[in-house]
Amino acid sequence: MVSPQVLRVASALLALVTSSIALGVAPGQIKNFVTFGDSYTDSSYYPSADGGYQWPTWAAEYGPFNLYGLARSGATCSNLLTYRPFPPIMEWQIPAYLNETYNGTLALNPQETIYTIWIGTNDLGVSALLTGSDTPGVSIVPVRQCAVDVLKRLYESGARNFIMQSIIPLDLTILYSSNSYPSRYWTAQRNTTEWSVFMRELVRAGNQITLLELEALAPTLPGAHIASFDSYGFFTDVYNHPGNYLNGTAPLNVTGCINSCVYALNESTSDPGDCTVAEGSAQDSFMWYDELHFSQQTARVLAREIATVMSGQFSPWATWLS
Ligand SMILES: *[C@@H]1O[C@H](CO)[C@@H](O)[C@H](O)[C@H]1NC(C)=O
Ligand SMILES: *[C@@H]1O[C@H](CO)[C@@H](O)[C@H](O)[C@H]1NC(C)=O
Ligand SMILES: *[C@@H]1O[C@H](CO)[C@@H](O)[C@H](O)[C@H]1NC(C)=O
Ligand SMILES: *[C@@H]1O[C@H](CO)[C@@H](O)[C@H](O)[C@H]1NC(C)=O
Ligand SMILES: *[C@@H]1O[C@H](CO)[C@@H](O)[C@H](O)[C@H]1NC(C)=O
Ligand SMILES: *[C@@H]1O[C@H](CO)[C@@H](O)[C@H](O)[C@H]1NC(C)=O
Repeated sequence: MVSPQVLRVASALLALVTSSIALGVAPGQIKNFVTFGDSYTDSSYYPSADGGYQWPTWAAEYGPFNLYGLARSGATCSNLLTYRPFPPIMEWQIPAYLNETYNGTLALNPQETIYTIWIGTNDLGVSALLTGSDTPGVSIVPVRQCAVDVLKRLYESGARNFIMQSIIPLDLTILYSSNSYPSRYWTAQRNTTEWSVFMRELVRAGNQITLLELEALAPTLPGAHIASFDSYGFFTDVYNHPGNYLNGTAPLNVTGCINSCVYALNESTSDPGDCTVAEGSAQDSFMWYDELHFSQQTARVLAREIATVMSGQFSPWATWLS
C-alpha cells in the first residue's frame, strides 16, 4: 500500500519531468508550417513585399518544411478593430484555413505542424492606431488580445505547436523614423518626431501585453507548445550590428532602403515619386527594402532563425513558454 503522501510527491515529480521534457518541439518533429500575418509574411506572390522571396519561402527551403501560407499583405488582426481593405487574420485567414481543413484540401497532422502568427505592423500604423483611424474605443489592448485570440482559435481547431512573433521596432523603419520623408505610404503633413515616439510606445507596450497574455494562456492549453519569438530584439540587433547579417557589395545601410521614393508634401501616393533604387548584389547591403518593409537579406537571416526554432534547435531569439 503506497501512502497518499508518496503518491503526491511522485505525481509532482512526474509533472515536473513531463513539463521539462515537453518544453518546445522535438528535433525533427515538425514537417509543416502554416503562416498567419501581413506583408512581412505573405509568400503568396513574387516578388513579395521584401523585393524577392519572403521569409517563409526561405524557411521552407532551409528546414526543409512544407509551407502553407495564409498571411496576406495589408492585413490586420481583425477588421472589426482596425479596418483596412485587405484580408485580416480573424475574418479571412482563419476562415480560409478552417474551410480548407474541414473540406479536406488541407490535412495536416497537428503533431507535425507549427503555426506562425506575426501581426501588428498595419494595426499599429498609418490609417489605424497611429492616426486614430481605428474603430471608436479600440486601443492597443484589444488589438494585441486579438493576436493571442488567434492562437487560441487555432488551438481549439486542433493546432498544437505555435510561434508568436513579436512586433519589430517599427520606429526604425523609414516611415516611422524621426527623420522620415513623404513616401508612398504617407505624404500628408505630420510631425515625424511625434510619430516615432508614439510608435515606439505602441510597439513596446503591445509586445509586453502580448507576452504577459501568452504567459498566462500557455499553462491552460494542454499539449500545446508555444514559442515567443523576439522579432523586436532580432531586428534591433540587425540594426545595431548589420555586419553580422548583411552581406551585399555596397556600404551596409540600415537607415535607407533599396527602393526609396521621395514624394512632395501632399503629393498623391499613386504618383511614382522620386526614386533611388539599389540593384543586384548591392541590395543585400540593406536592412530595408522600402520605407516600411525589410529586405530579402533580412528575410533570409530571419528565416534562418525561425527555421532553427521549428527544427527544435536552440535560437537565442525564441523562448518556449510550453
Ligand atoms: C468559407 O466557407 C464559407 C461557407 O462555404 C464561405 O461562406 C466563406 O466565404 C469561406 N471563406 C473563405 C475565406 O474561403
Ligand atoms: C475548400 O475551401 C477553400 C477555401 O474556402 C476553397 O477555396 C476550396 O475550393 C474548397 N475545396 C473544396 C474541394 O471544396
Ligand atoms: C514635433 O514634435 C516634437 C515633440 O513633441 C516637438 O519638440 C517639435 O517642436 C515638433 N516639431 C514641429 C515642427 O512642430
Ligand atoms: C548573402 O547571404 C545569403 C545567405 O544568407 C546568400 O543567399 C546571398 O547570395 C548573399 N548575398 C551576396 C551578395 O553575396
Ligand atoms: C543608405 O541608403 C540611402 C538610399 O535609400 C542613401 O540615401 C544613404 O546615403 C545610404 N546611407 C549610407 C550610410 O550609405
Ligand atoms: C498640405 O495639406 C495640408 C492639409 O490640407 C495643408 O494645411 C498644407 O498647407 C499643405 N501643404 C502643402 C505644402 O501643400
